[in-house]
Amino acid sequence: MPIYPDRFIEELRLRADIVDVVSSYVPLTRAGANYKALCPFHREKTPSFIVSPEKQIFHCFGCGKGGNVFGFVMEYEKVSFPEAVELLARKYNMSLPKRERHSTGAGQGISLRNLYAINSFAANFYHKNLFSKQGRAALEYLRSRGLDIEVIKRFKLGYARNEWDEFCSLARDRKASDKLLLESGLVLASEKGGVHDRFRNRIMFPVFDNQSRVVGFGGRSLGEEQPKYLNTPDTRIFKKSNLLYGLNLARHHTDKGYFFLVEGYMDVIGLNRCGIGNVVACLGTVFGEGHIRLLSRYVRQLVLVFDPDRAGINAAVRAIRLLLPTPLSVQVLFLPGGMDPDEYVGKYGRDSFLSLEQIDGFEFLMETISKKYDMSDLKQKSLFFKELFELINDIENSIIQTGYLSAIARFVGLKDYELAREFASFRKKASIYKDNKRRFSENVVSVVGNLRPKGPEAELIKLAVLYPEYRNEVKNLLVPTDFEDTDLWELWQVILDVDFDIGRLQARVQNAKAAIKPEILSWFNEILFSEVADPEEMIYTSSKVLLDKRDAKKIKVLKEIIRNRSEKGEDTSELLRELDALLKKRRDRIG
Ligand code: GTP
Ligand code: MN
Repeated sequence: MPIYPDRFIEELRLRADIVDVVSSYVPLTRAGANYKALCPFHREKTPSFIVSPEKQIFHCFGCGKGGNVFGFVMEYEKVSFPEAVELLARKYNMSLPKRERHSTGAGQGISLRNLYAINSFAANFYHKNLFSKQGRAALEYLRSRGLDIEVIKRFKLGYARNEWDEFCSLARDRKASDKLLLESGLVLASEKGGVHDRFRNRIMFPVFDNQSRVVGFGGRSLGEEQPKYLNTPDTRIFKKSNLLYGLNLARHHTDKGYFFLVEGYMDVIGLNRCGIGNVVACLGTVFGEGHIRLLSRYVRQLVLVFDPDRAGINAAVRAIRLLLPTPLSVQVLFLPGGMDPDEYVGKYGRDSFLSLEQIDGFEFLMETISKKYDMSDLKQKSLFFKELFELINDIENSIIQTGYLSAIARFVGLKDYELAREFASFRKKASIYKDNKRRFSENVVSVVGNLRPKGPEAELIKLAVLYPEYRNEVKNLLVPTDFEDTDLWELWQVILDVDFDIGRLQARVQNAKAAIKPEILSWFNEILFSEVADPEEMIYTSSKVLLDKRDAKKIKVLKEIIRNRSEKGEDTSELLRELDALLKKRRDRIG
């Protein structure tokens, strides 16, 4: 049972151009007839993620993910097919037709849509409050920190009044359920069994995701109230390890190729206020893999802005270590006099901030690590090497790795080749460990490999898809019993049915919730980007193998029957003749 009418899905698919949609998430560069990018679904250093405008599909040769525009949105936004349809329909201004209701009875889980809606509602509510009478002190405070109305609006700053249930009663009036309110993190369950507002007497900083949807809040206390910042707890749409404050704005400031990474909400706002838009901050959590993944979609370089105290230095070292094996290069900037970026730009202005010295991240790392050792002691120096070698050993890109090695050599005053020798001997010791690791990953690959369709039937489908002129021939050749995997036969039927339009095919399969295995769909995507050197040769060989497989099966069955009959003493001469003929046919075919 389709969820939305196929006609609607098809119209939406045609309107939501895949290049347009993908490039709103990932920067694409042209590569011949296609576009390429660093894959947003796995970590990589060279682009293996391809988008085909002609076929309206994407495929990553690194991780194997692929599909049409709906598939991309599903994967990227981590949403279901209907949610992807809804999201795209909104984006392309198409109104949704009624969908079949099956399992969404009352009392079931809260939909993501409602979570977004309640957060957006709250942001508007708090924002309006800031300009009300009770919000005056908060507004005054923000102004005293140099924020004008334009900046306050740009960040949609707000104010939560000093009340226990102002927000929750308003939301309830608007028919928000307690379940939704609780899941949103905007309210808390109170002891008496009711609910009350989480944020009271706080300046509200809405946190936007990279699509500029409000997903949660940071609330700063106005006075000495502790904690100074109270955040929305993690929810299904608010995962602090995958969010950066300011990214909704910074993503439009990628022209310089780098972002500043600062520590606080107010730092992001302060720099923005002074015309520096390429700035983001973590939400009071440690910088991690999720942030790196997010950032590498937008920039090649990060400038870490930290306090030069112990905590700041440790945080910088941690972040640089994490960034070493990634394609993001990193600089560090320490502000003088224990100022934070917001204070600094407020006092000295934009140009002064931009002209502050930035130190190369790796230089800084070497500097910091070397301080732990007495570098005049040979043994300690070798520990210093070991510590750095461990950090760069896993870097796959040899140019980057060699670059770091040269930097180390320069740092200690050795020749490149002398250091290379040290590194080689380090690696030799480390190689036992590495071998084990590789063996493990090969196993994983071969498991996946086994799930891929193979055999002459798969080859023939590939041919028919890539070369429509062979389609009829293949269609006449293939019968259900040729297929070891019935899902592949199913796919073949859908292919024939929808006339090779891959995008339409995938939409159909997804919309119908047909039970075609993802491995098969992913294989299908892959073949679309593949080539066949010699189609004539391929159809010749594959059909030969196919016919041979059929005969082999017949022979097996025939032998079985013959054995059965002769055991019972029945006449088998006719069958034996048939078997002989088959065996001869096979021998001739093999030649
Ligand atoms: P101002 O002090 O108003 O300038 O704000 P700030 O954003 O500069 O904050 P600060 O430098 O004190 O802290 C940096 C960041 O750490 C903040 O933006 C928050 O994300 C986080 N943070 C600070 N205090 C707290 C706290 O008490 N609880 C939590 N969860 N996070 C905090
Ligand atoms: Mn501050």
